[in-house]
Amino acid sequence: KTGMFTYDPGFTSTASCESEITYIDGDEGVLLYRGYPIAQIAEHGDYLETCYLLLYGELPTPTQKRDFDYRITRHTMIHEQMARFFQGFRRDAHPMAVMVASVGALSAFYHDSTDISDPRQRMVASMRLIAKMPTLAAMAFKYAIGQPFVYPKNELDYASNFLRMCFAVPTEEYKVRPTLARALDRIFILHADHEQNASTSTVRLAGSSGANPFACIAAGVACLWGPAHGGANEAALKMLTEIGTVENIPKFIARAKDKNDPFRLMGFGHRVYKNYDPRAKIMQQTCHEVLNELGVKNDPLLAVAMELERIALHDEYFIEKKLYPNIDFYSGITLKAMGFPVSMFTVLFAVARTSGWIAQWKEMIEDPGQKIGRPRQLYTGAPQRDYVASDKR
Ligand code: SDX
Repeated sequence: KTGMFTYDPGFTSTASCESEITYIDGDEGVLLYRGYPIAQIAEHGDYLETCYLLLYGELPTPTQKRDFDYRITRHTMIHEQMARFFQGFRRDAHPMAVMVASVGALSAFYHDSTDISDPRQRMVASMRLIAKMPTLAAMAFKYAIGQPFVYPKNELDYASNFLRMCFAVPTEEYKVRPTLARALDRIFILHADHEQNASTSTVRLAGSSGANPFACIAAGVACLWGPAHGGANEAALKMLTEIGTVENIPKFIARAKDKNDPFRLMGFGHRVYKNYDPRAKIMQQTCHEVLNELGVKNDPLLAVAMELERIALHDEYFIEKKLYPNIDFYSGITLKAMGFPVSMFTVLFAVARTSGWIAQWKEMIEDPGQKIGRPRQLYTGAPQRDYVASDKR
């Protein structure tokens, strides 16, 4: 009690905004993009089609899809001076640090799409961001490993273009494996949007002040980096590696249940899902597909992950707390098998989530009643009091 308010520890903010884009039923484990179940989109759609759906609310006709794909792919290149921008980083900089900086720097290169009052500029900025995120991500990766940047090749689809920019080298032709490209495209779909998660709320709040879209997405990238959010895929793989063998699992389960131990099972639990994250199921299937395609048998990390999941789902602590695997639990194993270093996992999440961030930012900006966000607080500090001179303290 502060004498000004009776502080109710149970107070939590409820709905923060209205949106028509994504629906989640946490108890039932339901996720819909503009009304379509995530499993159906992941099975039948592709990532750019998902971007269109999130942005405009309907699945595109073949003509609309061709036009949208063209509008995106013609923006995949980065201003040549941006390449020099990367030289300012140490080679061992975390790629997410590079992404936060380089995404924000886009507003210094593309002044002609920063005026958010102009619908055309808003549309161009949206296309540029969806198109350039993979290029920036691949550049961050290449810079980290000391290899030359690879330019996008626009006859390739979105995921194939990204794989080639990441793994092609000048000394030999890189052949994209269609199964891996399809799997990566599906992973992008799964990560595209997720209602008002922390990073999307960050983008909305930044955008509500009128900040340009590049700066808003950079804010989203920064928030996503946290291990409780998008950084969980990196943390989950590090956890599985630390567990190492199935025999070690009980020790880590005990730690996760110990209130005095800050350790949590990374890739488990969710602010909203109190049932199985529908994306995690698809992610697990995709993980098996990728490992099979690559001929990886008996992957020790997958064995640990599956046994950990089996034990946890039968453990009364996890059942009582309604903790299930989330999207980050199997994604790391998959991305590692594809050849991505663990430091790139959250970068890929950011690439995919850009479509959701942009769709949510667009929805907010185009709302005629939109005002600057201004969360309030419950004051629990000292009541009003008079200043005390320093010699009286
Ligand atoms: C993402 O919001 C989104 O939609 C995010 C996301 C998206 O697509 O944008 O879905 C992506 O961020 C997925 C979540 C990735 N994070 C992790 O996997 C990190 C590990 N998970 C935890 O840190 C945790 O589950 C959170 C942060 C995700 C949620 O934490 P909360 O809000 O505390 O969860 P809760 O209220 O449901 O917890 C209930 C209880 C608590 O114990 P009590 O206070 O009741 O004693 O379960 C405990 C928690 O301490 N708990 C865990 C746990 N997660 C929650 N205990 C052990 N291991 C865990 N992973």
